[in-house]
Amino acid sequence: MNEYDTHLVASELAARGAAFVETVEEANFVLVNTCAVRGKPVEKVRSLLGQLRKEKERRREPFVIGMMGCLASLEEGQELADRFGVDVLLGAGAIHKIDEALSGVLPYRDTGFYPEIDEIIPPPPEGTLSAYVTLIRGCDHHCTYCVVPRTRGPEISRHPDLVLKEVEQLVAAGILEVTLLGQNVNSYGKDDPSYPDFADLLRQVAALGVRRLRFVTSHPMNFSDRIIEAIAETPAVGQYVHLPVQAGSDRVLRRMAREYRRDYYLERVARLRQALPDLVLTTDIIVGFPGETEEDFQQTLDLYDEVGFDNAYMFIYSARPGTPSYERFRDMPREVKVERLQRLIEKQKEWSLARNRAWVGRQVEVLVRGPAREAGWVEGHDQSNHPVLVPAAEAPGPGLYQAVIEQASPHLLFGRVTKTLVAGGGS
Ligand code: 5AD
Ligand code: SF4
Repeated sequence: MNEYDTHLVASELAARGAAFVETVEEANFVLVNTCAVRGKPVEKVRSLLGQLRKEKERRREPFVIGMMGCLASLEEGQELADRFGVDVLLGAGAIHKIDEALSGVLPYRDTGFYPEIDEIIPPPPEGTLSAYVTLIRGCDHHCTYCVVPRTRGPEISRHPDLVLKEVEQLVAAGILEVTLLGQNVNSYGKDDPSYPDFADLLRQVAALGVRRLRFVTSHPMNFSDRIIEAIAETPAVGQYVHLPVQAGSDRVLRRMAREYRRDYYLERVARLRQALPDLVLTTDIIVGFPGETEEDFQQTLDLYDEVGFDNAYMFIYSARPGTPSYERFRDMPREVKVERLQRLIEKQKEWSLARNRAWVGRQVEVLVRGPAREAGWVEGHDQSNHPVLVPAAEAPGPGLYQAVIEQASPHLLFGRVTKTLVAGGGS
């Protein structure tokens, strides 16, 4: 979402005639897009703002510091803005006000939520074959650890005509893969009865000729049978679902206010697998939520085995000021959290290797982005979102290639190109 928002603001700046430079030294305006979901990204922003303040002190000519996004929506971010002399502050729901901010008197601060934010259709990104499209902003859930309902506000679906128009432009520009975005895309349309629901919108978007269609992120409570059917019936949507579970113990799930129990999650997975036999399933897990006992954690490990996730994003619980869990519960010692994370990572590696190995010998379609870190290889991902490397000599540039998987590691699939499907585009 932040990547999309950065692109949106950059396109507004470009329309104003801004030129983009590579380094802070060459710039007279630096705008930092921020994340506030865990403590670490907040620390990064703090240190970056420190560097920018120094730069400002050094400058003779004007130097404007801007901060946008989730952290800017929170008091925590506004305090940092005061301390580091931030001139432009735009909360996550007000980023489209950039033009207004730079046209008036500084400092400028706006932390409101405006539906007009989504009337903007940014131009297709240059030099890539895939793009994001925002469907819905905000979140109506209230997970106790999470800042998002406060930073991004309640769910507001974007008008379907805007979504479809944006996708049409991307397809016309040669974009092969579109990722539909939202904190909870499954809830699309709930706030306006005249809008299609997510299942129907998925079909409508696919009908525009998108070669490959993905979406993030989902909440198990909103992942209806209708959505599962739509995925199964829409070939452009690969058999790939990211479905955050967060924890395997009912006691922890309840304290997180996730609104479901372990059994419900397992039932959703069973239903998905029934409809999508080749399903690649990934998840988010938080370890060390306050009060998580060793037994609770064991249940997360057991759930991992029961589901056999293809991959997981695993996080140490980060107590975020202002969230209900920060107010109500005491954080546990960091060593306990780190040790649990390590055990979970071990489990994840075993499963990822086993699941990836099952793809050896199979044919996939790889959307190649560009050179890999490993010399002689290019990197991309297949229709189920596996990262795939193929020899650079066989796929000389970005494009869509058919490949056969020959080898697997816990993190990567290695393939051999059998056919070029769409060559070129991008650089
Ligand atoms: N601490 C740790 N992880 C968190 N997430 C959200 N809030 C927190 C927090 N306070 C994780 C969740 C979510 C992902 C985007 O970030 O797993 O799904
Ligand atoms: Fe945060 Fe929960 Fe909403 Fe996801 S569903 S954005 S974790 S409150």
